[in-house]
Amino acid sequence: MASPLVVVSNRGPLAFELDDGELRTKKAGGGLATVMGGAVQGTAATWVAGALSDADRRAAERGMVEAEGFHVELLTLDPADYASYYDVISNATLWFLHHGLWDTPRRPRFDRAWWQAWDGYRRVNRAFAERVAGCAPAGAQVLVQDYHLCLVGEHLCDLRPDLSVVHFHHTPFASPTEWRMLPAAVGNELLNGLTAYTACGFHNQRWANAFEATARDAGVTPPPTFVSPATADAADIEKVAASAPCDDALDRLDRLVGDRKLIVRVDRIELSKNIVRGFLAYDDLLRTRPEWRERVVFGAFVYPSREGLAEYQAYRQEVEGVIDRINAEWSTPGWTPILYDAQDDFPRSVAALRRFDVLLVNPVRDGLNLVAKEGMIVNERDGVLALSRESGVFAELGDVALEVHPFDVVGTSDALHRGLSMTDDERRTHFTRAHERVLQRTGADWLADQMNAAAQ
Ligand code: G6P
Repeated sequence: MASPLVVVSNRGPLAFELDDGELRTKKAGGGLATVMGGAVQGTAATWVAGALSDADRRAAERGMVEAEGFHVELLTLDPADYASYYDVISNATLWFLHHGLWDTPRRPRFDRAWWQAWDGYRRVNRAFAERVAGCAPAGAQVLVQDYHLCLVGEHLCDLRPDLSVVHFHHTPFASPTEWRMLPAAVGNELLNGLTAYTACGFHNQRWANAFEATARDAGVTPPPTFVSPATADAADIEKVAASAPCDDALDRLDRLVGDRKLIVRVDRIELSKNIVRGFLAYDDLLRTRPEWRERVVFGAFVYPSREGLAEYQAYRQEVEGVIDRINAEWSTPGWTPILYDAQDDFPRSVAALRRFDVLLVNPVRDGLNLVAKEGMIVNERDGVLALSRESGVFAELGDVALEVHPFDVVGTSDALHRGLSMTDDERRTHFTRAHERVLQRTGADWLADQMNAAAQ
């Protein structure tokens, strides 16, 4: 018989909202919940996650939440500890480290406030481990997700040695040289924490190799690793694509774009997504290939993320500044070169994915990138994918995409031109191969890989 399953992540599959004093569930945001949710929904698995809002905390007071095919244990944490763990360590430190985002003359700074935050990260990891220890059935397989929770495994080894605990990193992993930017004691504590897991999983072999090299460089013997790229849930996204809100959004988009070509990006407003260079490449396209002026629109469907961090607020301003400049420079009566929409509206994003001629996915570094897969599932126009070689998904789709070097603005402009200029036959061949490739794997395959790793 299969072992019972427990999933652990910072953000769970359900978010709560208060509607006239009543608690209601809504789908949680973020790629992790999308990927994991599809695979876990309807199973008997328990999901342990943080209570992230006031409504979540109200729901947590009622104990285990059973809704929409999920069994969720919400963990209420001390707010100051949570801010330390989530904003300072997980997002402003580990996320930046793994994605190579630091502007090193200025950041990072491990000052006294940061060291206090590090203690908060430790306490929150301990609290997650204690909750799992309290609710996991005997002999369960426990799948711990992401950089927020590197230290949970070692606590569980002490608290519940009967459990088999795997870690999955959804991000890239820092190289040995990058890792050396962390204070050595912290770097070693994190690596030793990860070695306590039965195995550590990654979306791409490069990130697994980096983890192993980084551990060895620090004198730590890495645990077994495995590579298992996640995938978008095709049934889920096709359902959204067939919904009335998505059709309405597509009608609105069609009216705005008319018979012009459409470049699309769908992203969180996130430094690793390389949004500014994407617009600079478009600017270069309009400047150097005047034949595209008034014949193409760039739809940027990007939505705010992690607004508690000054870096994200500043990046949003930079993104909006570049859009304003490009639109001011190139607009003509009846044509706005960039359509900017910063609403977090999933049916509208899916409408854009149905409609694009070229999908630009150009992150500076990305653990996987689900949007590339979602676009190749739902697009209805034999759209072309322009894909960063630094995204994890490049290993799966690189040979059926136009390769983008994320720092090369001129090369990205050339890739946009190439995508926009393909013949119908070329587009069909390209799209069909990518579409078939994406459908080869399911969320259940990905979940099974983690469970197999736990069973070793
Ligand atoms: C993206 C990353 C995941 C990460 C998640 C957290 O989806 O790919 O690795 O867990 O962001 O997002 P959040 O909004 O919860 O900070």
